[in-house]
Amino acid sequence: MCEPKFFDIEYEINPWMHTDNQVDTQLAQIQWHRLYQIYSQQLGWKVKLVQPVEHLPDMVFTANGGIVYKNKVVLPNFRHPDRQPETEKFESWFKSAGYNDIIKPKYNFEGEGDALVWNDIIFAGYPWRSDKASHKELSDFLGTQVISLQLADARFYHLDTCLTIVDAETVSIWPPAFTAESVEQVKKTVPNVIEASEEDALVYGLNAMTDTKNIVVPEGANGLIKAYRDKGMNVFPTPITEFQKSGGGVKCLTLELR
Ligand code: ARG
Repeated sequence: MCEPKFFDIEYEINPWMHTDNQVDTQLAQIQWHRLYQIYSQQLGWKVKLVQPVEHLPDMVFTANGGIVYKNKVVLPNFRHPDRQPETEKFESWFKSAGYNDIIKPKYNFEGEGDALVWNDIIFAGYPWRSDKASHKELSDFLGTQVISLQLADARFYHLDTCLTIVDAETVSIWPPAFTAESVEQVKKTVPNVIEASEEDALVYGLNAMTDTKNIVVPEGANGLIKAYRDKGMNVFPTPITEFQKSGGGVKCLTLELR
């Protein structure tokens, strides 16, 4: 994770961001620390931090800092110039943490924002931020199957805004964010597919973090919260309104070091 010390809206690169709809920076700190506490204290997850950098406001969204799979790291190659300087910051962090099998893809690729691991498969999103061609780079380097999913709604521009990996048999999606063919692809691959409502999708309910028994979701994603409780999971709803002004949420604020 990355503390929101320099988090604000300095540019507009997705439909949620408006420089005239500024972040309440104090509230952002409170919301971020609450998420950090859920992870580290309530759930006992080990959290490592990357240093925030001034004028890289979106560094808080560490999900875009790469993808880690079997100790290999694929760094991001950001679509927008505003975020491109983040790559070397994340690269330094990975190197200092002892990762040395690292590549930077040739094509645009925005880390776990567009690449979610489900069992031995990686679901990868395109075309808003990541190029489909980067998916081949992923599968070649990581040596695993990558299933490309085409996103169809600009408000859900990263895969992690419209698909949650829940457990070994289950994912949640908001189908209208995908092409019909990609929805079919998910249903063909995963035995249980939970379909979220539009209300839940719009509060970024699908941008969630789980260890398969516990799940952290944004407050207000009531349909999903109920579905996860009915499944017997422990649900931790938490507010993320300030980050949603930038088009981010729980999962975006988190990179999994599996
Ligand atoms: N403002 C950031 C951007 O547009 C938000 C990133 C959200 N990250 C994510 N993994 N969905 O790039």
